Amino acid sequence: MATSKKPTTLSGIQPSGKLHIGNYLGALKNFVELQNEYQGFYMVADLHALTEDIDPKERLAQTLEIAAAFIAAGLNQKKSVLFVQSFVPAHVELGWIFTTLLPVAALERMTQYKDKAARQTKNVNAGLLTYPALMAADILLYQPPVVPVGDDQAQHLELTRLVAKKFNQRYGDTFVLPKALHTRIPRLMSLADPTRKMSKSEPTGCLFLDDTPQVIEKKIKRAVTDTSSAPTKEMSAGVKNLFLILEACGDKKNHNALTAAYQKGTLRYSELKEKVADATSKELAPYQKRYKDVIENKAALKRVLTDGAKRAAHAADTTLKNVKERMGILLS
Ligand code: TRP
Repeated sequence: MATSKKPTTLSGIQPSGKLHIGNYLGALKNFVELQNEYQGFYMVADLHALTEDIDPKERLAQTLEIAAAFIAAGLNQKKSVLFVQSFVPAHVELGWIFTTLLPVAALERMTQYKDKAARQTKNVNAGLLTYPALMAADILLYQPPVVPVGDDQAQHLELTRLVAKKFNQRYGDTFVLPKALHTRIPRLMSLADPTRKMSKSEPTGCLFLDDTPQVIEKKIKRAVTDTSSAPTKEMSAGVKNLFLILEACGDKKNHNALTAAYQKGTLRYSELKEKVADATSKELAPYQKRYKDVIENKAALKRVLTDGAKRAAHAADTTLKNVKERMGILLS
């Protein structure tokens, strides 16, 4: 049960649909790289996903899939703690406490809330609004100095800092204010419409982690490159995106050679696409093999999650106890 003396960090992924290469290159791989430097807590955020209306069987399957993805990406249980949010009740408890500190107006300003409320008009539930309180609890329970998040979560992290500050002011110094650790990989754009970010809601432009090399090749072949017929000075968004994928997949050699060709004006997009497709398939192959092994052994996966929940609860309960004492809701 012992956790190391390294600084902690925490991040989470919501189980809501298939993961894509952006999740892998931007989030999962990054978490794995951090695990030597930090005591990581990595979580499948299933309580957050309750704000969306998903079939319960599907929900459970997706929770296990995300957990398997963490392991397949290289998360090592000896170094990091992998758990499912709902298995650790302290999250909900501290989440409630934080709703009593966060101003409604601040919650209403969150762009993710506004976006989701506009998208799921038939299901604008209170959880969509109070979501950042739960996310703040996820984070602050583990007292991490830094949190690896994509820029779409930066606003929520700001609220986390706000709630930590408010708590400290009212009840005395308790929380360190966590900083964002921005991931190195910039956001990948949709292959079909490179002005928009790659997203599972637009599958033709999205490279999923379970896509076969054939599917990857097909999607990349169809990727939008230049929309104007005359060559422009600036690299187009579509071509830039292909280079970005090539670089993110670690194919430096082709990245350099093809960049040089681009600058000379001799680059053939068909060749660029072929190299990007190869690099992507190569990058995903070991992940896909491990993923298959992990997801096929459900008993072992469940053991990892049960053990992870115990270790996470151990850390989280220590923080929660301190919080409750300070607030006057615990007899000691
Ligand atoms: N809200 C994050 C997302 O939608 C997932 C998440 C939940 C998270 N709790 C977190 C991320 C805590 C970082 C830290 O992507």
